[in-house]
Amino acid sequence: MEQIELGKSGVRVSRLGIGTWAWGDGLYWGYGRGYGAADLHQAFDETVRAGINFFDTAEVYGMGKSETFLGEFLRAAENAQNAPIRDGAHIATKFFPLPWRLTRGQVVRALRGSLKRLGLQRVDLYQIHWHTPLVSIETLMDGLAEAVEKNLARAVGVSNYNADQVRRAHKRLAQHNIPLASNQIEYNLLQRDPDFNGVMETCRELNVTVIAYSPLKYGVLTGKYSPANPLPGARGGQFSTAYLAHVQPLLVELKRMAEKYDKSIPQVAINWVMQRGALAIPGAKNLQQARENAGASGWNLSREDVEFLNELTVRVRTTR
Ligand SMILES: NC(=O)c1ccc[n+]([C@@H]2O[C@H](COP(=O)([O-])OP(=O)(O)OC[C@H]3O[C@@H](n4cnc5c(N)ncnc54)[C@H](OP(=O)(O)O)[C@@H]3O)[C@@H](O)[C@H]2O)c1
Repeated sequence: MEQIELGKSGVRVSRLGIGTWAWGDGLYWGYGRGYGAADLHQAFDETVRAGINFFDTAEVYGMGKSETFLGEFLRAAENAQNAPIRDGAHIATKFFPLPWRLTRGQVVRALRGSLKRLGLQRVDLYQIHWHTPLVSIETLMDGLAEAVEKNLARAVGVSNYNADQVRRAHKRLAQHNIPLASNQIEYNLLQRDPDFNGVMETCRELNVTVIAYSPLKYGVLTGKYSPANPLPGARGGQFSTAYLAHVQPLLVELKRMAEKYDKSIPQVAINWVMQRGALAIPGAKNLQQARENAGASGWNLSREDVEFLNELTVRVRTTR
């Protein structure tokens, strides 16, 4: 699997990663109903087998359960192989700016909590999950810098930051001689805003890697959901049947393209994200999903087909 550097941080990770929000999260993803710990463990092992070494989690995913699972699976893999795989597995987690966390010290304290759940001495990437108006970007970046200086994080990034916020974060970290490695944002065939609101352009200009979350649009871009078969649970409330009807023509095109390449719809959707220059982190809940998503790498949509999808999705860009 091709490796890329996260910004100018010196940290190199696989060009395709995996997201673990669903690992232990019952509220949004329905953990415990239809999939459980054994499925997640198989998803992890399959991901490692496929050569993917970038795992994205957050302290709030499953209220800490996602980090705990990831730590357990890492240790089990080490024990099974009788050799440490941690140097080969790159872990990214996130600080959640809860309204009572107002100081740089709290960034470091939260990271120590994450490290404990993960069972690690340090993470490869520590990210601020969302911008908050309650704490200045400068204070949060000072906290990230302290995490690097204390050797608790190899690289630091942000998430859901707009172009101006990326500039401010980059500038403050530069005062500590630390590069802003990444900005994690929603980017997929049904969320093209970053192409038009300056975020992609700014990240390119400042050498900040774009980490594309929800590359399958929370499952909509797998092709398995439709007005007759809407998304389950809390996710269902987010996508109206009108929206699901609206995106069916795109899914028809994606199916046609998938057949042309002998791939699946999710593989085409993820491959498009990667070809747009972003590091994709699709979520997977079981072995089959992990295997299928890993198969989004190792081949490329043609430049003409990427262009075709660019054009097509600008036209279907819509609200939910
Ligand atoms: N920074 C942020 O604010 C933020 C926000 C959101 C996500 N993220 C990160 O991005 C990661 C990925 O995003 P996401 O999990 O929200 O959504 P996603 O990757 O767009 O979709 C993942 C979901 O789609 C379904 N799926 C995945 N692969 C499939 C396959 N091959 N075939 C059929 N169904 C498949 C699964 O749900 P079902 O089987 O239930 O349909 C899976 O949980 C997260 O895990 C998290 O690490 C970050």
